[in-house]
Amino acid sequence: MASIWVFHGPNLNLLGLREPEHYGSSTLAEINQEVLATAKQVGINAECRQTNHEGDLLDWIQALTPADFLILNPGAWTHTSYAIRDAISAVKVPTVEVHLSNIHAREAFRANSVIAPVCIGQVSGLGADGYILAMRYAIDYQGRRQKG
Ligand code: DQA
Repeated sequence: MASIWVFHGPNLNLLGLREPEHYGSSTLAEINQEVLATAKQVGINAECRQTNHEGDLLDWIQALTPADFLILNPGAWTHTSYAIRDAISAVKVPTVEVHLSNIHAREAFRANSVIAPVCIGQVSGLGADGYILAMRYAIDYQGRRQKG
C-alpha cells in the first residue's frame, strides 16, 4: 500500500536539545507523533524514520516507489549530497523538502539545497509546523492521485 514517509537526516535525533534558537524546543518524538496523528485522522498510512548514516537514507529512498510520497529533512546533507538528490530522481518519488529553520536567512552555505531541484517544493523556517503543513500537502496530493 502506498505510504507517506517522513525521513529525517543527521543530528535531527538531537532536536529539543540542539540549538533551540534555530530548531525550536520540540523533540523528534513529539514532531513524529503530531505528524503521524495528522495522517491517522484521515486514515493514511505514514511512517517516520531518522538516521545519521547517509547510506541508510539512500537505501530507504531506493526502497520507495513513485506511488509513495516522501517528506524529507535532509539536515546538512541538503547542502552536499548529490547521492540523495540522485536517489530521489531515480525513484521518482514525489518529495517535499522540510527545514525547521529558514535556510535562506542563515550562513551562506545553508542557502543552497542540492536536493530542492528534484523536489515538488520546500518548506523552510516554519519550525515543527512545517512538517504538519507538508503532511497536509502530501495527504491532498495522494488523494488527488487516487481520484485520477
Ligand atoms: C536543517 C537546516 C540544515 O542547514 C541543518 O544542517 C540541519 C537542520 C533544518 O531543519 O533547519 O541539520 O535541515
